[in-house]
Amino acid sequence: MRIYRATDYDDMSRKAANIISAQVIMKPNCVLGLATGSSPLGTYKQLIDWYNKGDLDFSEVKSVNLDEYKGLSRDNDQSYYYFMYNNFFKHVNINLENTNVPNGTEPDSDKECARYNKIIEDLGGVDLQLLGLGFNGHIGFNEPDEAFEKMTHCVDLQPSTIEANKRFFEKIEDVPKQAYTMGIKTIMQARKILLVVSGEGKAETLYQALYGPITPHVPGSILQLHPDVNIVADEAALSKCPR
Ligand code: GLP
Repeated sequence: MRIYRATDYDDMSRKAANIISAQVIMKPNCVLGLATGSSPLGTYKQLIDWYNKGDLDFSEVKSVNLDEYKGLSRDNDQSYYYFMYNNFFKHVNINLENTNVPNGTEPDSDKECARYNKIIEDLGGVDLQLLGLGFNGHIGFNEPDEAFEKMTHCVDLQPSTIEANKRFFEKIEDVPKQAYTMGIKTIMQARKILLVVSGEGKAETLYQALYGPITPHVPGSILQLHPDVNIVADEAALSKCPR
């Protein structure tokens, strides 16, 4: 586990974008596992900036996103596809046919999860998986539970997650109650992990994930067992971790 200390959100975003850039430069046809949320937003902005300067080429890159709300279509402005398209894909030269996000409009969970697992398998697995950390310790949408869920599956979102994500919706009733997400095993099979965490509000959760017991109650704690995990976090998020 390697921890990169950033001064603030912008510094965290630049450091994280540097790691993704290195991956894309070293392996132009790599498979990037991508994430949504406010944490990686600055990372995408930085990558777009470097792309515009001619420093990066995404033409051969393939991507698989972590998760998607069940019930939301791609053109819904709260869907994760919409987020990815508007905050990253449309700004760089990635081939949209090489991008993958779970299909929120597929009502048959077994069918959609099997389809998504097959995509990841056919791509040969993920080279670098970008992750954020939920306030309750979730990664992707793997909520705290009794057991670690394995591959892509459909989850019931916890009330605290619905509460945390309601800021993006008009009213709390509009927040979907379920989501498709890569499982813990899918995430752990990525060859490299990049976790970005910012802000004092995540400090206790980050401490628990990195230094607490490895338990499904804090899904991010499983990352302690990954052989190549890179954490880029700002001082505020690292404030409860030992120096
Ligand atoms: C969502 C996503 C996660 C993300 C988390 C934290 O629930 N499913 O992938 O990591 O929120 O989001 P944020 O970075 O906005 O705090």
